[in-house]
Amino acid sequence: MYPLRRNRRLRTTEAMRSLVRETIIAPKDFIAPLFIVEGKGVKEEIASMPNYYRFSLDTLKAEVKELWAMGIKSVLLFVKVPDHLKDNEGKEALNPDGLMQLAIKTVKDTCPEIIVMTDVALDPYSKYGHDGIVAQGQIANDPTNVFLAKMGLSHAQAGADIVTPSDMMDGRILAMRTLLEEEGFYNTGIMSYSAKYASAFYGPFRDALDSAPVDLKNIPKDKKTYQMDPANRNEAVKETLMDIDEGADIVMVKPGLCYLDIVRDIREVVDVPIAVYQVSGEYAMLKAAAERGWLDHDAVMMEQVLSIKRAGATMIASYFAKDVVKLIS
Ligand code: PBG
Repeated sequence: MYPLRRNRRLRTTEAMRSLVRETIIAPKDFIAPLFIVEGKGVKEEIASMPNYYRFSLDTLKAEVKELWAMGIKSVLLFVKVPDHLKDNEGKEALNPDGLMQLAIKTVKDTCPEIIVMTDVALDPYSKYGHDGIVAQGQIANDPTNVFLAKMGLSHAQAGADIVTPSDMMDGRILAMRTLLEEEGFYNTGIMSYSAKYASAFYGPFRDALDSAPVDLKNIPKDKKTYQMDPANRNEAVKETLMDIDEGADIVMVKPGLCYLDIVRDIREVVDVPIAVYQVSGEYAMLKAAAERGWLDHDAVMMEQVLSIKRAGATMIASYFAKDVVKLIS
């Protein structure tokens, strides 16, 4: 009781504060998302994501070396697929010499120890911009699972360490795990986007990959029939527990900041690592405010990643990965 307990005693100096600090941010906490495009010598800035770039396979090498040298040990690969290779079934996604497969090999050749995670989803390959196959006015669940399992296998065959399904079909983890086991890929990890919300914060990402859903007569131009309703909390726990039962090694909550209650709920009940994806819109918001001088970029960035970790994240996929690591090193 006051004045016997004066809480400010432990806040008097930075040394004292660091002595009692509960959450520490380290380079190994981060997964760096990387956007890959066709071409040579490409390093193009994404309009709605200042200071974030798309790389061609050759420029990717230097980026990966830099990340590894900084202590960032995981990358998450996304590809921008040219329109003429898009269809409804994602045929190009299974091409053993496709851009993703080549990117996996490029990263592994450049830096064999870095953990290669890959986005497994139909949308960058879909002419409709959906994460599932469109059939009879719906996003067809089970046929999509058959496709996703093959896509995961193709990434594993190219050398991916962890495949990362981001689609929110029911049962896709089981389908993928089963096929990986059958094909002898016992050590390929699955990081499941298990509580992925139908969020407006994905806008800049869809610009980066040109993957936004298109107008269709009988299908809504959003992902609300498969991604989760932002109003729901209990459902996130259910989704996550099901994915773990189906064979997920790591589960994910996405987006980050608006969903930290979900992160904590899940932390209380699961025994696997939790990834949080601080998404493109979260990045864009801070960059825009900082550009105008309205927020202190570095201070707000650190507070955000700290809060994500404090909420219960084991790891954070973030476009701020390099910015943060530069600041703390
Ligand atoms: C696609 C996918 C999305 C993101 C990661 N994988 C977009 C979407 O679901 O429409 C979003 C990432 C971000 O906004 O940074 N399956």
